[in-house]
Amino acid sequence: MRKLIVGNWKMNGTLAQLDEIGQIQAGAAAYDNVDSALCLPATLIHAAKQRFADFQFGGQDCHHAPKGAHTGCISAEMLTDAGSAMVILGHSERRSDQGESDADVRAKASAACAAGLHVILCVGETEAQRDAGQTETVILAQLMGSVPDDIAAEHIDIAYEPIWAIGTGRVPAIEEIASVHAAIRTHLTERFGQAGRAVRILYGGSMNGDNAAAILAVPNVGGGLIGGASLTAEKFLPIIKAAS
Ligand code: G3P
Repeated sequence: MRKLIVGNWKMNGTLAQLDEIGQIQAGAAAYDNVDSALCLPATLIHAAKQRFADFQFGGQDCHHAPKGAHTGCISAEMLTDAGSAMVILGHSERRSDQGESDADVRAKASAACAAGLHVILCVGETEAQRDAGQTETVILAQLMGSVPDDIAAEHIDIAYEPIWAIGTGRVPAIEEIASVHAAIRTHLTERFGQAGRAVRILYGGSMNGDNAAAILAVPNVGGGLIGGASLTAEKFLPIIKAAS
């Protein structure tokens, strides 16, 4: 299975960063056995796609409704119109900052699919849940609640992002990553049958050029969702290289 390396720029980046995106796109082209993409702030997607048409871009959220009186929100169709191929949904920062529930994420995922976007759906446990031995229970509950019943397996990838590992420099032990990814795979095959084997399960949380190769070699790790280390070509390209 080809690995997928996705940068999540979160609330970072203005038009001044288009040159950096160009360096990422040019560098990533050397690794044609890896799928790579950047999920940008919505304000940058159109300009980035205009300049770098061959690269894949995505959004970081969308509304569940196709249009209407939702001030400040962005629909899935707006993301595709701007040049997005994908969207991150259910990121823990949105679940905590915006109070998004599993039901909200599920509705957004359905809307995204209807608009032709590939969904990268995030799940992850808090440190307290991990310490209480609840990691797999929490992850499976999020999958049950967030993944739409009628979504086709080829339209979705899952990102496992332990909340305590995001932006902290801490990563789970390789065995922990293997165990959670295996549990997610079992859930996906129970749910989608054979097609569940082709869903990529990305790891996210303090992945960088030093730890990427070891994490990406874990069974059932189909790629990475990268925050801080995706903001520059210097830090992002070594992760793409590690996936090649
Ligand atoms: O979605 C990516 C993410 O939350 C991980 O962020 O900065 O730990 O790589 P970071």
